[in-house]
Amino acid sequence: MHHFQYRDGELYAEDVPVREIAKKVGTPFYLYSAATLRRHFRVFDKAFDGIPHLVCYSVKANSNLAVLSLFAKEGSGADIVSGGELYRALKAGIPPKKIVFSGVGKTPKEMREALQAGILMFNVESLGELKTLAKVAKRLEKIAPVAIRINPDVDPKTHPYISTGLKKNKFGLDAANALKAYEFAKENPYLEIVGIDCHIGSQLTQISPFVEALRKIKEFILELEAIDIKIKYIDLGGGLGIVYGNEAPPPPAEYAKALQEELGDLDVTLILEPGRVLVGNAGILVTKALYYKETPTKNFVIVDAGMNDLLRPAFYDAYHEIIPVKEKDAPKIVADVVGPICETGDFFARDRELPLVRPGELLAIMSAGAYGFVMASNYNSRPRPAEVMVNGSDFFVVRRRENYARLVAGEKIPPFLSEQNG
Ligand code: LLP
Repeated sequence: MHHFQYRDGELYAEDVPVREIAKKVGTPFYLYSAATLRRHFRVFDKAFDGIPHLVCYSVKANSNLAVLSLFAKEGSGADIVSGGELYRALKAGIPPKKIVFSGVGKTPKEMREALQAGILMFNVESLGELKTLAKVAKRLEKIAPVAIRINPDVDPKTHPYISTGLKKNKFGLDAANALKAYEFAKENPYLEIVGIDCHIGSQLTQISPFVEALRKIKEFILELEAIDIKIKYIDLGGGLGIVYGNEAPPPPAEYAKALQEELGDLDVTLILEPGRVLVGNAGILVTKALYYKETPTKNFVIVDAGMNDLLRPAFYDAYHEIIPVKEKDAPKIVADVVGPICETGDFFARDRELPLVRPGELLAIMSAGAYGFVMASNYNSRPRPAEVMVNGSDFFVVRRRENYARLVAGEKIPPFLSEQNG
């Protein structure tokens, strides 16, 4: 469910015509619906009503401060993977006691920042990381709350680039090494074992891999209990998929029910780290057609957004629905929708059937709220697009379009290249 719908042939975001926003802010731009974000959070959170739980929104999916603030107001915590994400989450008002820190490569500096903030839990992914965390905590005279990330070796049946819970992936620890890590943590006065963690992948459209991972975690908890280690939190990560085209992911209620059944009467608090399912369908990328080019083999609709703005099609061959902002009865064409970047991979759709698109017309690339702007770059020296949030009949620029000065901010020509010394 989302709030991007046609009214009298015009695409609206909630109660605002998308065309009006384009007129004001120019193109391309990301557009988020506050009502959709709120609804997605509430549906997800409510699905777990029956069990002690904490939803820690996965900041990496969309880290705009407005999005984070909206979730903070809904009571969400945050799953972060960097000092930068910690900074954003705190700035948006997410309480530190609701923040979990994931990721295989936390630096001592990032650990310090998180310890000083007083976060809920570090999801530790190696013995080396655990030892470093203990040292950092000792220097600060603090105790670091830890969970060890288990690699449960289950197949999430998703794109290989976003599958993380297989033995061959870099994430987490196998059971034997995880046990060693727990034993180390138990003996160290600067570490406090609070949880166990896993995340098996993203855009999962089946429930069974989640249940299988949880089953393995439960088995592991029994092993821990045998050596007198008590677990307060099970963090199951994120990963629930969304509809981009013809996928049929389970609704949050079904997902929650299956997890609840598998949990049984285990006395723990469940932590969830949803990203995509909260924001994916709450955002679109609006772009303008620049040219229509027919060649003997293919037709191309060339638009003013590029792979630097939305990388998913180029990177994962991901499908995103593309619809005209003004609904039309035009004859159908089959075309590639491509950006202006000097790469063959710069496309949003290939051999897609669309109503004939004329230069100047606006298109909406759907389901772009997750892993959209956050993966944008300045490749080809393109300023990154604006981000806009609609709330009812109002809209707000929540990140202004970058300008050329911003492109070179921080760059310097060294003295040996400056004219005087030339
Ligand atoms: N927790 C951890 C530890 C993660 O690594 C991730 C995502 C999540 C939670 C959130 O997963 P979600 O609920 O969004 O599936 N750029 C890719 C997705 C990469 C996901 C990385 N980890 C894409 O555009 O599809």
